[in-house]
Amino acid sequence: MVKLTGLKKIKTAVFISGTGSNLNNLIKFSKIKNSPISIDLIFSNTLKAKGLKFSNQFNIKKYVSNFKSTKISEAKILNLLNKDNIKFICLAGFMKILSKSFIKKFSGKIVNIHPSLLPKYKGLDTHTKAIQNKDSVAGCTVHFVTAKLDSGKIILQKQVKISKNDTPTSLAKKVLSQEHKLYPSAIKKIFN
Ligand code: GRF
Repeated sequence: MVKLTGLKKIKTAVFISGTGSNLNNLIKFSKIKNSPISIDLIFSNTLKAKGLKFSNQFNIKKYVSNFKSTKISEAKILNLLNKDNIKFICLAGFMKILSKSFIKKFSGKIVNIHPSLLPKYKGLDTHTKAIQNKDSVAGCTVHFVTAKLDSGKIILQKQVKISKNDTPTSLAKKVLSQEHKLYPSAIKKIFN
């Protein structure tokens, strides 16, 4: 595991595919004095990702590669990560599966946020599944990324109550606001 040494922040890349509300939140967190990380690269597999706008807004380098060939895209990313001395990766709504060999190269240095209380509901449509199963609680998890989808060691979780009138959309909103608190807390837990 990477440990924070001295006062230097750990250079971090955030991988996104969509809105990027977690990215925005992580950037704001990274600017706090005692945040262990700085965000130095935003990567997306699609130009359509709305979150790419945070690159201009915060003056952070961005890079897009479409993952039509995982091998080619990952080779390009690795090149950039090495060049920029990036040591930590946060997946935040990144919708592509990284290869085993990529994950191995960054073993213990890639984390993900998932909108369920893992190990429950790996993969997609977590809120629909929680409501259909009449669960009383939902939530979110920050975990280390391993080759097995949504299965790496759990760093932190947060529960959210499901109320009778919740829809997948309303539940997603409630969980997302907790995600914004959980991700920074999990990062602090890793490095402090
Ligand atoms: C979040 O719910 C995250 O847990 C999931 O995808 C969503 C991304 O939202 N993996 P955003 O792009 O950070 O707003």
